[in-house]
Amino acid sequence: MAGVSTTPETPETPETHGTAPEAPEARQSPADRARNEVVEVALGKLDLDTKARLLAGQDMWSLPALPEIGLKSLVMSDGPIGVRGVRWTADDPSVALPSPTALAATWDQDLARRAGRLLAQEARRKSVHVLLAPTVNLHRSPLGGRHFECYSEDPYLTGAIGTGYVQGVQDGGVGTTVKHFVANDAETDRFTVDNIITSRPLRELYLAPFEAIVKNARPWGIMAAYNQVNGVTMTEHSHLQNKVLRAEWGFDGYIVSDWMAARSTTGDILGGLDVAMPGPQTVYGDALAGAVRAGEVDESVVDDAVRNVLRLAARVGILDGATPVVGELPASVDGQALAREVARRAFVLVRNEPRDGAPVLPIDASRVRKVALIGGPARDARVLGGGSATVFPERVVAPLDGLTAALPDGVLSYTVGADPSDELAPAEKGFELQAVCRDASGTVIGTRGLPSGQIQWIGDDLPDGVTHGTLHSVEVKGTFTPRDSGEHTFGTRGLGAFTLTVGDEVLYEGVQEMGDEADPFEAFFGSPAERGRVQLAAGEPVEVSLAHTVNPDAAGPLSAIMFSFVHSTPLRDPDELIAEAVEAARDADTAVVVVATTERVESEGFDRTDLSLPGRQDDLVRAVAAVNPNTVVIVNSGSPVEMPWREDVAAVLLSWFPGQEGGAALADVLLGAEEPGGRLPTTWPASLADAPVTEVTPTNGELHYAEGVFIGYRAWDRAGVAPAYPFGHGLGYTTWEYESLEATPTEAKVCVRNTGSRTGREVVQIYLAPTADPVERPARWLAGFASVEAGPGEAVEVEIPLAGRAFEIWDAQADAWSFVPGTYEVRACHSLTDRRLTATLDIQA
Ligand code: BGC
Repeated sequence: MAGVSTTPETPETPETHGTAPEAPEARQSPADRARNEVVEVALGKLDLDTKARLLAGQDMWSLPALPEIGLKSLVMSDGPIGVRGVRWTADDPSVALPSPTALAATWDQDLARRAGRLLAQEARRKSVHVLLAPTVNLHRSPLGGRHFECYSEDPYLTGAIGTGYVQGVQDGGVGTTVKHFVANDAETDRFTVDNIITSRPLRELYLAPFEAIVKNARPWGIMAAYNQVNGVTMTEHSHLQNKVLRAEWGFDGYIVSDWMAARSTTGDILGGLDVAMPGPQTVYGDALAGAVRAGEVDESVVDDAVRNVLRLAARVGILDGATPVVGELPASVDGQALAREVARRAFVLVRNEPRDGAPVLPIDASRVRKVALIGGPARDARVLGGGSATVFPERVVAPLDGLTAALPDGVLSYTVGADPSDELAPAEKGFELQAVCRDASGTVIGTRGLPSGQIQWIGDDLPDGVTHGTLHSVEVKGTFTPRDSGEHTFGTRGLGAFTLTVGDEVLYEGVQEMGDEADPFEAFFGSPAERGRVQLAAGEPVEVSLAHTVNPDAAGPLSAIMFSFVHSTPLRDPDELIAEAVEAARDADTAVVVVATTERVESEGFDRTDLSLPGRQDDLVRAVAAVNPNTVVIVNSGSPVEMPWREDVAAVLLSWFPGQEGGAALADVLLGAEEPGGRLPTTWPASLADAPVTEVTPTNGELHYAEGVFIGYRAWDRAGVAPAYPFGHGLGYTTWEYESLEATPTEAKVCVRNTGSRTGREVVQIYLAPTADPVERPARWLAGFASVEAGPGEAVEVEIPLAGRAFEIWDAQADAWSFVPGTYEVRACHSLTDRRLTATLDIQA
């Protein structure tokens, strides 16, 4: 048995590109074998140039069709909370589920599977064959910009939810790409950062969810990350891709690059990368055929990659002669209903104090006289996180909409209180816009109606009659009828030449150059620039126009037109807003304050710099709580925020980014039609200073995961510091008695009784804690869990399998997993720190 390892990852020996039929025979069904035969025949008909072309994106989202072998074009799309489809626009809407953090907070693999089935249905509706999801990187630091898009700080919970998700999507005959392989746990310098991770944390934490999903759900795809791990760019990482993922775990799907991650023809193909996305300019295609002809790459390596792609095509049913994996589709899913169910099952009630003898929640709708709803995000809800995870839902139920529908007339009042969304965002509410396309002579060559001021025309998605060759300028023009009087702010997002006019005032005429970030997605995710302010009157329409001269270089190697006409409403005096809210709260039985992060706080392409709520939201909560003891705060964020006022309010409910039906689900739980079902999938710190890992910025290009296996609760335990709320915490509306626990090395059998007066759901959590440790390990870790439901007075017995890996560590010297004998406490818990029953296991090798 080895001690703790600090040995760096063993330098890899060159492996060959992983091949299809090398997936363990035992795992291949007769149907797999039949598909593989069709694949072999198809492969045999392709020449080198065609094979190399198949491995390169033909545009932003798809691979070329090869009619000569009966192969249709394979279409991919993001992911993970909905299926955007190939167009990046609100006029092609999608169901928006709650954020991945929310899905993980349900601690329910079956629910994740049902979510996956809905997404497969959405993918089919949009002619998408592969969903670019799920994101299973870990919550290493709460500063990670895409924290909201990952599941948890715990690899086991991440693997379990990811397994359900992948199974669900693939039940519907649609592929997944589990991403981002591996260690894309933060965003700063994501294209270049070299994450230095010793083999033990790499195996026990960061690779573990991928391993679990590969073994339990057999995903048809994996996405290789941008970053490097221990000096090797992930798309070229032969050791991790060819040896660990394929040879060791038996992965038999395709590996696709993250978008623009593939940077070396020979490095990538020898490193195991099958497909370079997006196109049309990639390091594969002609360059790959050239590398084979130059003798740098053996053609058999290209064949392996083509096999992997053809096998995927066969599985999803776009290769003639091959029987797709799914013949009969699962029953159709009601997207709105499921979005609402997942949201309420994900809400985590972290605090619910008694007031007048009973907890403040749920609110008794039959007796409540006045509810004061407060907060900008209560009206303009933030239902999803930004970046590539963005989808455009057909409708959004904000908390104001949900509570208005659920409460009797006259009970609800609304005040803004504080508005964190004072940032410029694509022009939408009150705007009637169209795009007018002109050629170099100024002649109009096409027009398109626009649902918002955001233009993302990728590839051939252009207005009728327009081509990239003829298009010279795009003017976004129309009218704006303001909701509020006052000083409105207008601006631009994107690169190139712009002229912005409101009424007859030219607010800006100039050229926006690329910023220092040099992120090729700058035009997608870059900061909007303010260009001027105009005094406008509510209800009075004004003409607006943003003319943009097309800059062929702005989108890097993509053929794309990407820019936005952005706007923000007049900002009112923050003290006045708070004072108004206080007056409304003073007079109410219950004050419900919704606070939120914004797109500038949680999105893709950058990390957070702090965990505080933007704007004056903390002041607002304190002021409201000071006048109303029944103050309930709803925290609308995808990841942790500091809540310095949490002990001063009656209840705190974390709603995550709750998806399109969030407001309806919120009314369900606030008024007690349903209980909030979530448990924290990640430790919620009281302040950033307490968080164990706060360094996400590389030094000299390297980011050292110096904390080893101690992230999340493993680190909090070691530091002996108490967070605001521990991992696994969450309250419902009933109470539970843990009546019995029996444990074997493979299973914990737990009996729990609902001792309250209403039906409820409990997440029974099993933690293992070694009583003495021959190796340095965390004090305890999650080894299994189950979600159970019971009526009042009812008992349920549940058998919870214990993960085999829970008793093992990665032995760096032996380069293998190693069982650690000893005495273990098996703890049946309501949360990490709320232990109910303990059994002891003495396990020897
Ligand atoms: C993201 C991926 C995403 C891809 C395509 C990248 O910037 O990192 O998660 O799937 O874009 O949108």
